[in-house]
Amino acid sequence: MQHLMKSATAKPRQRADVRHFLDLSDLDAKVVRRLVDMAHAMKQAGRRPPPDLAPADIDQKILIMIFEKPSTRTRVSFDVAMRQLGGQTIGLNDKDTQLGRGEPLSDTARVLSRYGDAMMLRVNAHATLTELAAHATIPVINGLSDLSHPCQIVADLMTFEESRGPIKGATVAWAGDGNNVAVSWIHAATRLGFKLRLACPPQLNPDRAVLDWAKAEGGDIELTDDAPTAVAGADCVVTDTWVSMGQADAPRRKQLLGPYAVDDQLMARARKGAIFMHCLPAYRGHEVAASVIDGPQSVVWDEAENRLHAQKAILAWCLGVD
Ligand code: CP
Ligand code: NVA
Repeated sequence: MQHLMKSATAKPRQRADVRHFLDLSDLDAKVVRRLVDMAHAMKQAGRRPPPDLAPADIDQKILIMIFEKPSTRTRVSFDVAMRQLGGQTIGLNDKDTQLGRGEPLSDTARVLSRYGDAMMLRVNAHATLTELAAHATIPVINGLSDLSHPCQIVADLMTFEESRGPIKGATVAWAGDGNNVAVSWIHAATRLGFKLRLACPPQLNPDRAVLDWAKAEGGDIELTDDAPTAVAGADCVVTDTWVSMGQADAPRRKQLLGPYAVDDQLMARARKGAIFMHCLPAYRGHEVAASVIDGPQSVVWDEAENRLHAQKAILAWCLGVD
């Protein structure tokens, strides 16, 4: 009884102290750089984290994962990452919870904060994440939203550096839809000082507010509607599916995005030794030719593996490791 009374009167944790991972644009450049360095170190250490990157009391910590959309990589890599760190996970689809029946996000955030130590969500609307974060007293991690996919880009930055050396000063080209993955690339380029050239059909340009943010922050971002122009001399070529999860206008998108397909001819315009990246799942013969994604310049399997190491870095940072 004494114990119950003590916990009922315990002071709530201060939300300002909570390390949410919603977008790379929310973090300063030092933190983004540190996350990538931690991801490299996690990979070098193997299954267990190096002692200086192990979160305190990790064996008592639980990650709650909720998915409003399907996932292979994000779901499994976060689950494995938390277990390899020494913690535990609970994985749910939103329909399994009262969220699916309209329980307010603010109430859900407060309740889950009493059970778990961090929550990772894949959501339809980015506002779901910001609303949860406003009321949670544990970290909220963006496992993909309609706006952005920052966990993917920590892995992508790491993958670039494994193949091509430091990202700072490099040139990355994006050809395709100005979607959630493209937005996180814009955030990353602005924070870490590399050039990003995006080629998108004007109807599918990245969110204007994100481009304005990058400009105001001094980001080196170029936008064109011509894929060969964007790819010329680039160190890395990136693309993504033409139809993201939840998008209904597939025929229109396929028509608009046809000229942005990454094939051998387009790759030949990049710098010698340039790499090809794709967050997966990929659709061969649509956004990328099989000869490119299955060819010698492709690093997509390292990229997928690196999701695991990047998730360990993100979890460790959210749980207080610097
Ligand atoms: N790249 C990525 O996020 O993959 P999943 O949709 O499989 O999680
Ligand atoms: N842009 C894609 C990424 C999938 C990982 C989507 O949102 O479906």
